[in-house]
Amino acid sequence: MRGLIPDSFIDELLARVDIVDVIERRVPLKKAGREWTACCPFHNERTPSFYVSPAKQFFHCFGCGVHGSAIKFLMDYDRLEFPDAVEELAQSVGLTVPREGGRDERPREDKTDLYALLDASASWYQQQLPGSAEAKAYCAKRGLDADTIARFRLGWAPAGYDGVSKALGSSPRRMELLDEAGMVSTGERGSKYDRFRERLMFPILDRRGRVIAFGGRVLSSEQSPKYLNSPETTLFHKGRELFALWQVKQANTSLARIVVVEGYMDVIALHQAGLPIAVATLGTATTPEHTELLFRAAPDVVFCFDGDRAGRAAAWKALESALPRLRDGRQAYFLFLPDGEDPDSLVRKEGKEGFERRIKEAMPLSDYFFGELSRDVDMASLDGRARLAERARPLIAKLPDGAFRDLMAQELEKRSGARAMLQADPAAHRAVQRPMAVQRSLVRSAISLLLTQPGMADRVEKPYRFLRLDKPGVELLAELLDLARARPGINPAMLVEHFAERPEYPALQKLMAATVVGEAEAQAAEFFDALQRMEEQAVSQRRDALTAKSREGALDSAEKAELRELLAARVAPPTAPA
Ligand code: UTP
Ligand code: MN
Repeated sequence: MRGLIPDSFIDELLARVDIVDVIERRVPLKKAGREWTACCPFHNERTPSFYVSPAKQFFHCFGCGVHGSAIKFLMDYDRLEFPDAVEELAQSVGLTVPREGGRDERPREDKTDLYALLDASASWYQQQLPGSAEAKAYCAKRGLDADTIARFRLGWAPAGYDGVSKALGSSPRRMELLDEAGMVSTGERGSKYDRFRERLMFPILDRRGRVIAFGGRVLSSEQSPKYLNSPETTLFHKGRELFALWQVKQANTSLARIVVVEGYMDVIALHQAGLPIAVATLGTATTPEHTELLFRAAPDVVFCFDGDRAGRAAAWKALESALPRLRDGRQAYFLFLPDGEDPDSLVRKEGKEGFERRIKEAMPLSDYFFGELSRDVDMASLDGRARLAERARPLIAKLPDGAFRDLMAQELEKRSGARAMLQADPAAHRAVQRPMAVQRSLVRSAISLLLTQPGMADRVEKPYRFLRLDKPGVELLAELLDLARARPGINPAMLVEHFAERPEYPALQKLMAATVVGEAEAQAAEFFDALQRMEEQAVSQRRDALTAKSREGALDSAEKAELRELLAARVAPPTAPA
């Protein structure tokens, strides 16, 4: 995908946008010296460790380690794929993304058409709703008001096999798109017909509010399946989407908690009752991707399930998917409903206040966790307590390092009486907390420092004398210097972006992050000092090699002369920092 957008355009784009603008529009920033800071949008924290550097056009969080360019920020924050992030940024500064490649390689155009077609389908279903007496009656029976119907863009797919096809499939190309969007099914002889017929239609929107799929409900219990969903398509992956997340984000600028329920109607009833904090998975178990999305939306996530066997099984699955995502500051709760009720029926019975009370009384993850694991063990016996410890340990080990994991381990110790030995990885913890303290080789320092001000490359003399140093990374440093010299005015993010498809990319991003905060003058001095020391190391490396060889009496006359010179001379500075 990436290959279709020319590198030169990525350069131009990153030169044109200002990362501070891009981030500021999504996260309020405060000025702090040369940088801007905020509480990190990617993890929960009370004191800001998220930095944006205008000079480097780079962001970095010292708490959780996320970092990157404006493109990377959009990918992470808006959860966009690379081409979409580029597109979004380009639009914001009035640039058009050029495309490379042949006639058939136009994924962008194709997707735009696909989105437009799905949106048109939603509108078409919406238009059909007032014309259907039975659909209107059903909405009334379910207590859906006009505002809710409009907000969720509910519609009606009429009977017949070619409603959508006739209205929107007016050319072979459009029929193809309908197929790609999952709006039509294919008959035995290859004929296409409407997938959704005689169903109340629920559009599924993505994070940017675009229609990507549908769910459709039959009106009578005689028909099946009760709900029919769009198949997986290039736009719709049900393991990654949450129904109504868009509406939740529209209704709340900041959200303390988000509630996950099982059904479309549950979500809609809660929103209509004045609780626009509910989303649903789309007929699937909660995936780790869902959990990450949920915690990005709110620090507290309440998983709501039926109290029956199936509900409890689904809840445990959700717990397992949540464990690795439970960084400090994130909390998961479990709410089990009385038999035979769902959130829709309950909120209609008990009202907004009643349901809110249930949310507040939801079970903290730790209670549910230990309750469920001790369910069928005899906690009075040593054996039973050992069983508990055995079951709990590998699960607790899945929690990210932090205060919550410590608490869970302590709780296990208390309950089981056994020492909960966890395979903590203290090294990994330290690396995340103190990226600056990581021991870096001279070459790595030099690269990292060059990335603070690529303009320094002009002041390094060619040929690069440090190239004689036999250490990993020197070639990369030389390549970076050449790139920076060839493109005066290149900013750090642009420079790193040139390596996006190379194996060195993650390492370069880390090196850039290591120096995101600091005084420019001091960093420049350190950079030239590092080059100087690399050169000294190269000289002593060569001197040692020649000395060793001479001990074996194997030096030729040129080498002897070189060694004499090396032993006599001190190294001259490689550059004259202006
Ligand atoms: P439920 O059967 O619990 O229905 O399915 P519901 O949400 O209470 O719906 P109403 O109130 O009867 O209208 C819960 C969810 O499981 C998925 C849907 O996402 C549904 O909202 N599901 C259910 C399907 O995908 N297909 C089905 O046939 C049934
Ligand atoms: Mn229901």
